[in-house]
Amino acid sequence: MTHLFKFLELYFIWVFSMGRGSGFGKVILFGEHFVVHGVPGIVSAIDLTVDVEVKRVGEGIHVRDERKGARGYAERKRTQQKESIERMLKIMGIDLEEASLEIWLGGNLPGFSGIGASAASSVAIARAIAEEFEMNLSDERINEIAYEAEKAYAGTPSGIDNTAATYGGLIWFRKNLSGGPNTFEGLNMKEPVEIIIGNTGVVADTKEMVAGVAERKKKNPEKYDPLFNQAESLVFEARKALEEEFDLRKVGRLMNENHSLLQDVEVSCKELDYLVNLAREQGAFGAKLTGGGGGGCMVALTPEKELQEAVATAMEKEGFKVLRTKIGVQKIRKISLISNKK
Ligand code: MEV
Repeated sequence: MTHLFKFLELYFIWVFSMGRGSGFGKVILFGEHFVVHGVPGIVSAIDLTVDVEVKRVGEGIHVRDERKGARGYAERKRTQQKESIERMLKIMGIDLEEASLEIWLGGNLPGFSGIGASAASSVAIARAIAEEFEMNLSDERINEIAYEAEKAYAGTPSGIDNTAATYGGLIWFRKNLSGGPNTFEGLNMKEPVEIIIGNTGVVADTKEMVAGVAERKKKNPEKYDPLFNQAESLVFEARKALEEEFDLRKVGRLMNENHSLLQDVEVSCKELDYLVNLAREQGAFGAKLTGGGGGGCMVALTPEKELQEAVATAMEKEGFKVLRTKIGVQKIRKISLISNKK
């Protein structure tokens, strides 16, 4: 009889035990692409997450991706997602051949390009696997694992996306080009400010965009070096405007300048420029593409609800999907693991 109870207990643990984890989405306010080459960047986590559940069942690795998303996002990212999970399992010391995992992805962060959906999912998967395998990993380790996974999506990522996805908050980030630990710190703003994120609906490939900039920079240093120097001074000015001066007009102007630099390094596209101009026409203090570009999303600074609504509605009227959120809401913090371990 006791053997039967033991068997049933193990059976129930096997069927019902699962690991869970979450990761934040993000919006880069200053410095995407330049940040890959050591220029600092400013990123804000957004209050939307990818949530993951992992179970040790079946045979092999099965992913059920039920995130709401831009049409085609999940399909376009499937191969990169597979590679990212394999990279993660490898550095977590889990034997790929032996692994039998069911990974479910959900949450309220839509699968749009540019808002850190891949990094948020990597952080969430790493946390869920760690919980399922009772690994008790620190946020620092989760961030490292998610960085490894990001290589599948971005080629040579800076680490800014996975850092925002792991810690949340408004973050000043600088990649260490010598391979040592990156530096990042939380920024403080006097009060939260409304932004909108507009989605072009075009699914973009961050890996291609990052590789394209690196290639053009190498081929044409006369053009690219001054642009990178401008991006560096701009991000320091932006930090001052956000933190010390809380001068939102200046922040907006700097966002516009940042967009021009991104156009110069050829990562914008007609759909992004269209939404950026539309936001400005509607009174946004500033607007720029956000993330990898080549499609994906743009961000506009729209202080106060009324302006946020006006800009968002103008885009929605034309059929674009818009997220309304704020920057400066949370302090940098740790996401607490949702623990339902049986
Ligand atoms: C993508 O969200 C941001 C990029 O700068 C790539 C990276 O920093 O890893 C384009």
